[in-house]
Amino acid sequence: MTDKPLFRLAHISDLHFSKITWNPSQFFSKRWLGNLNLLLARRHTFDPSCLTTLIPIFHERNVETVLITGDLTSTAQAAEFKMAQQFIENLQNEKFQVFTLPGNHDHYTKNAYKNKLFYQYFSANYASKENLKDDEMTKIFLGHDWWLFALDTALATSLFSSNGYFSSELEQKLESALQELPKNHRVILVNHFPLFANESKRKSLIRREALQKILKRFPQVKLYLHGHSHRHCIADLRSSHLPIILDSGSAAQKNKGTWNLIDITADGCVIEVFQNIRKSNPTSWESVAKSNFTWLKDEALV
Ligand SMILES: [Fe+2]
Ligand SMILES: [Fe+2]
Repeated sequence: MTDKPLFRLAHISDLHFSKITWNPSQFFSKRWLGNLNLLLARRHTFDPSCLTTLIPIFHERNVETVLITGDLTSTAQAAEFKMAQQFIENLQNEKFQVFTLPGNHDHYTKNAYKNKLFYQYFSANYASKENLKDDEMTKIFLGHDWWLFALDTALATSLFSSNGYFSSELEQKLESALQELPKNHRVILVNHFPLFANESKRKSLIRREALQKILKRFPQVKLYLHGHSHRHCIADLRSSHLPIILDSGSAAQKNKGTWNLIDITADGCVIEVFQNIRKSNPTSWESVAKSNFTWLKDEALV
């Protein structure tokens, strides 16, 4: 497949900007656990400062749009949101269009979730009749009969779980929005959580079966992009009447951080995988794999 891309997108996820706090008030929320985790593990695993090295390669590869599928922070505190906001502003100043949505770490505490803190920092990314903050979903027309649909399925959870929730209200809204689309239009769906419970059930999307069912009924949804697992994965599930699933992995991970460059063409898509190479300083990104997919005829499994 050699046709010119209609769009070139970069998909990054799980940036996990972090700041350890010593405020005693953390013991009234889940944040103390997040800080302990930061001290013992996460700060040795993640290095969001390497994210600035994405800008030159985005320019080099003519990226137009950057999709960030959640977990911009670690414990949803203001200082972390400010760091993530600065990173996004830097991308926007370089003329990249940026779309983002929250992950479970961005609604980490009950207060952050209740006050929708994420949206105090990232409110102006979408313009649609549905509002990600209030409706848990939104859609953006990308041009060339393509849409970006974004879901907010993150919520504050109990101490040792990090589930998401695909509510029945959101199910209805997504179904109506897909029904409203002209039949020849196509959709990229972005969400923080994977479509399957690949690891612990305590980390999975609750009511994911309802989301899978919708995707089987609307084959216009060609790609499902997510993060959360911190493990890169490309799964072509079209033989099961589901979309091509792309988990970008975490771009901020110290050891083999990853992201995807996605070319959407009229006939298919090309996914190029980039991995960080830390032999030199600063981090450099190497193309490690490339896959081509041709769109199939839309056939819904009713
Ligand atoms: Fe994460
Ligand atoms: Fe997550």
